[in-house]
Formats: sequence, structure tokens, C-alpha cells
Amino acid sequence: MKKLDMIYEGKAKKVYRTEDTDLFIIEYKDDATAGNGAKKGTIVGKGVINNKMTTTIFKMLEEQGVATHLVKRLSDTEQLVKAVTIFPLEVIIRNTAAGSITKRLGIQEGTKFETPIFEFCYKNDEYGDPLINDDHVVAMKLATREEIATIREMTLRINELLIEFFKERGIQLVDFKVEFGKTAAGEIILADEISPDTCRFWDIQTGAKLDKDRFRQDLGNIEEAYQEMLKRVDQ
Ligand code: TMP
Repeated sequence: MKKLDMIYEGKAKKVYRTEDTDLFIIEYKDDATAGNGAKKGTIVGKGVINNKMTTTIFKMLEEQGVATHLVKRLSDTEQLVKAVTIFPLEVIIRNTAAGSITKRLGIQEGTKFETPIFEFCYKNDEYGDPLINDDHVVAMKLATREEIATIREMTLRINELLIEFFKERGIQLVDFKVEFGKTAAGEIILADEISPDTCRFWDIQTGAKLDKDRFRQDLGNIEEAYQEMLKRVDQ
């Protein structure tokens, strides 16, 4: 499968059309940003790691009945995926308080929630990806109520599977962000990636942060943290 024109370039990935209109090729980059692009940098090897890790995790989710866009990993940094139209929504699950919720609501970092918190953010750089609710999503025609219900159900299932998967590997899944897309046939499937860029991972033994917070908060040993996560996932 050959890459044709690039149809999208995000902060961490590029998306290319292929000769087959139902398939895209995704290329993972080493570029990293934080704070809606305020902080920019490179995490050496990140593209290769996130491509491998996402492939392993999406395969696991598929085996457990979650429909994803993954067809196969093509190379170190490339994946063949089903073509979808992405809902302009960041779908976030929080199992433990960290990041923006600690600042916005004053909840202490590390506070465990009895049930997962489900959030939507509107994917829009101009407005800083604001937090929105179901009514905003429907009013802005970003998704229908029915589609929201499907996305919520799939995300909660993904959370259950990921919590267990990472627990077996000594990792606490603090929170994560996923994105969904719709195929030409109208099926809603998991898209984008699941990696240290899009999740918070804490070592259960030591509490060490093994994710992009090392970059966001200048904690050092960023590449090592990403490598450690890949080692745990591909054990
Ligand atoms: P937050 O605490 O900054 O709102 O982030 C919640 C989770 O979502 C965290 O695991 C990081 C992830 N995330 C992204 O993947 N992309 C984003 O643009 C943002 C804001 C968060």
C-alpha cells in the first residue's frame, strides 16, 4: 500500500490517503507539544514507541470485541488503518485525579474516583479544547444522542479492559483520552492512539510517572519512561 497525499497533520501524527478509499496510512512523529502548543519539543523514539504500543493495545481491544480502525502496523512509524471521519471530540476518562481536573476543581492529585469520570472536550485549538457536555455536543451537531451513547458505552468498556491490562503490568491507569471515528458505512470505531502521549500511567510500586507528564512538567528521563512503558506493554 502506497502513501498518496497527506490529508491531515496533527501535533503527533500525519495521515495519508491511499489508493484504497477505505484505508489511510498514519505516520507517527517524535514531535511533542503541551499546553495547546505553548510548549514544543522532541521525544526521541516516541513515534516508534507509540506506534508499537497502540498496535498492541488496539489488537487486544479488538480481541475483546472493541471495534478499532487498526488494520496493521506497516513499519516502525506507520500504521494502515480504516478510513474514518473523526468526531471532533476528545473523550476523556478519569479514574484518579491528575492534570486539569486538579487545577479546575481543586481535587487533590491521586484522589481515586469511585466510578470513572467521563468528559468531552471540543477538539478546537482556537478555543483551547474546552470541556463541554452532551447538550453542547448535540447543539453543535458534533454527534447525535445515539452516537454519544455508543461512544460512552465503548469508552467505559475500553477503560475496564485497559485498567486490567495495565494492572497486570504493574501500572495504574490514572486517566486517558481517546478519539472515535465513523466509517463510510456508518460504523463508530476507536481511532487515534493509546500511548504515553494520551494516558497517564503511574508505576504501582514506586508511583513514578511514566507518561507525557514528564515532558509537560520537565521531570526528565522522558525517553526512558516511554521505553519502560513499551517494555511493560510488550512483555
Ligand atoms: P488533562 O488532565 O490535561 O485534561 O488530560 C486528561 C488526559 O487526556 C491525560 O491522560 C492526557 C490526555 N490528553 C490528551 O491526550 N490530549 C490533550 O489534548 C489533552 C488536553 C489531554
